[in-house]
Amino acid sequence: MTGEKRAGERKVFVKTYGCQMNVYDSDRMIDVLATEGYVATDNAEAADLVILNTCHIREKAAEKVYSDIGRYRDVKQARALEGHRTMIAVAGCVAQAEGLEIARRAPAVDLVVGPQSYHRLPDLLVEAADRTRQSRVVATDFDVEAKFAEMPLPRPAVTASRGPTAFLTVQEGCDKFCTFCVVPYTRGAEVSRPAAQVIAEAERLAAAGVREVTLLGQNVNAYHGEGPDGGRWSLARLIYRLAEIPGLDRLRYTTSHPRDMGDDLIAAHAELPALMPYLHLPVQSGSDRILAAMNRRHVAADYLRLIERIRRARPDMALSGDFIVGFPGETDADFEATMRLVEHVRYAACFSFKYSPRPGTPAAGDADQVAEAVKSERLQRLQALINDQTHEFNAATVGKAVDVLIEKAGRHRGQLVGRSPWLQPVHIDGPAEWIGSVRKVAIERAEGFSLFGCVLSTPDAEGRMMSATMTCAG
Ligand code: SAH
Ligand code: SF4
Ligand code: F3S
Repeated sequence: MTGEKRAGERKVFVKTYGCQMNVYDSDRMIDVLATEGYVATDNAEAADLVILNTCHIREKAAEKVYSDIGRYRDVKQARALEGHRTMIAVAGCVAQAEGLEIARRAPAVDLVVGPQSYHRLPDLLVEAADRTRQSRVVATDFDVEAKFAEMPLPRPAVTASRGPTAFLTVQEGCDKFCTFCVVPYTRGAEVSRPAAQVIAEAERLAAAGVREVTLLGQNVNAYHGEGPDGGRWSLARLIYRLAEIPGLDRLRYTTSHPRDMGDDLIAAHAELPALMPYLHLPVQSGSDRILAAMNRRHVAADYLRLIERIRRARPDMALSGDFIVGFPGETDADFEATMRLVEHVRYAACFSFKYSPRPGTPAAGDADQVAEAVKSERLQRLQALINDQTHEFNAATVGKAVDVLIEKAGRHRGQLVGRSPWLQPVHIDGPAEWIGSVRKVAIERAEGFSLFGCVLSTPDAEGRMMSATMTCAG
């Protein structure tokens, strides 16, 4: 009967915090657990296993985890009264960074599992379920190659639940050691997956109906995986190969470091229609003094020159970035340098954050921390500038016909939402069968951070585009 549990079936609820790699990892954990008879649920109260896939990047993100553990501990206790056992696992970057502390602070947690141990989840759960154990199970080894080799390929059901777009991790970890950042400690050293593994996974995704793949890595453009020919493949080489997979119309990658932007990758943007004209290229600050203190190992002028080269190769390239305001020692003049850099680049979108001191990172101990009020004021000014640029960027699309990959149903009946090549959300009216197809859309207006338009053409049975004005009036 529907709604009733099959014998042996167990339910897993996963809550994901943080970056896109965590979204990817959460799905892979569900895939691994499927081999043990687990099915995903979005109702924590019905779950036999609750996994919190956590983020350690800023203090707020990490602290939220402890309050959430409290909430799921209550669920666990309520279920216990009804005779059900609930296991709580903490995964992700907080698990890696604070494993023992979690076990100490939160006795309701049965298992702590770092990002490099997800392939061991079934065994770890058996271990954690052993009621005779005196201590929690904490698995925080760095064994990323074993993980990638042993994780199952994505299962079509999980892939399909995400619609026509998918993430695919090609590189994990970071050797850059920016002085503010926990990632080198939580994700470990930079490791690239062998190209053959990535190709197999991408083929699998395409076969399950995925049209757009975003390649993930903390330093994705430093990718240097083993090629099927035994040599090292760059990210560009990998992208050319992935572009040959039938059905994969769109390829993206994130996050790139300015120092690893190879000539071949820039050239790929000029040559490959499947490689979307959008690049997330964080610079963090416009001040050379702060960039040096952050250990970014480039100056602002290097970044601007790089952007010039990228725009020469692909004039319509949309750029996005990350910024930190109030890094220790940041003066008004340093902050103004950041504002000038943003004005110069003209971003399509950006993320910006107040500096958050992270335990164990070099900058956290600096004496010249910036006052909270100063950070807030700078963040507000920077975000206002960035928002203006996003609105300007979106307004420039109005009146144009753009290709939109339709991803899902919109909030209103009959509405669909997709993305332009430049990652702008586009709302149109149309039938649900259009989800998963690329349509030519006339952009009529920009509102908030979204675009609204109508479909100009729709493919016929042979896939040819016809200028059927399905939703455009007249
Ligand atoms: N791998 C990515 C960064 C991942 S973290 C990269 O190299 O760009 C995403 C963003 O969080 C960073 O780009 C940075 O802007 C921000 N961030 C990282 N550590 C931070 C900290 N301690 N305080 C505030 N923001 C931080
Ligand atoms: Fe963190 Fe810097 Fe590595 Fe990005 S490049 S993950 S900001 S250490
Ligand atoms: Fe957060 Fe870890 Fe990603 S710290 S941003 S979940 S790599």
